[in-house]
Amino acid sequence: MASVAVIAVDGPSGSGKGTLAVALARRLGFRFLDSGALYRIVAHAAITGGFDLADGDALAGLARRLTVHFELTQDGVTVRLDGTAVGDAIRAEPVSVAASRVAAHRAVRDALLELQRSMRRPPGLVADGRDMGTVVFPDAVLKIFLEASPEERAQRRYNQLKDKDLGVSLRGLLESIRERDERDRTRAVSPLVPAADAIVIDSTLLPIDAVFAVVWQRVIDAGLARA
Ligand code: C5P
Repeated sequence: MASVAVIAVDGPSGSGKGTLAVALARRLGFRFLDSGALYRIVAHAAITGGFDLADGDALAGLARRLTVHFELTQDGVTVRLDGTAVGDAIRAEPVSVAASRVAAHRAVRDALLELQRSMRRPPGLVADGRDMGTVVFPDAVLKIFLEASPEERAQRRYNQLKDKDLGVSLRGLLESIRERDERDRTRAVSPLVPAADAIVIDSTLLPIDAVFAVVWQRVIDAGLARA
């Protein structure tokens, strides 16, 4: 299905990439892939099942058994594992940190590659992650890489999580973001870096509507929508 258009939206946590990717998928009527949710689901299953987070092969075994679907709903995205909605449990901070450890294993990344590529189906796909434009969909028609300062990203994540009663503090989130960033950017396999042909946007001072407007113009330029 290489001819089906993919828009890759990559960047660190809290950069606004998730919001942007969902908005693009909605507006275009495209399918949506939240690849971070896949690593989170593996991490959550590993924690619940008492797996060693250093055991890449065992974690890859978990990853290979996943049947995941993403559904755009009126108020967001529903992630389904074997048909059942997974809910907020995968968004808790310990799962975020475990996901970045799980994601550093090549065996896990390889195990999830086919599942991610199988989501490339008509009329098109918006894929959100860290390596969508570099590894999973290197032929994506449009590649966006969103950045923002760690302080701004921690604040955004705090605003998202505080109402969900997941027991987070701003300082704790900033530390966790720095730790994850360091691991994601320096790992040997699929590190968090913009693809050479990505459009890099710093969203620290830009509201999401302004980011969307910049990207939407690129979508039009790429022939994916009309002005
Ligand atoms: O995007 P999100 O914060 O949900 O991702 C959780 C973790 O999964 C990230 O910190 C990163 O380590 C990992 N991840 C990845 N590659 C992706 C998506 C997420 O390594 N494509």
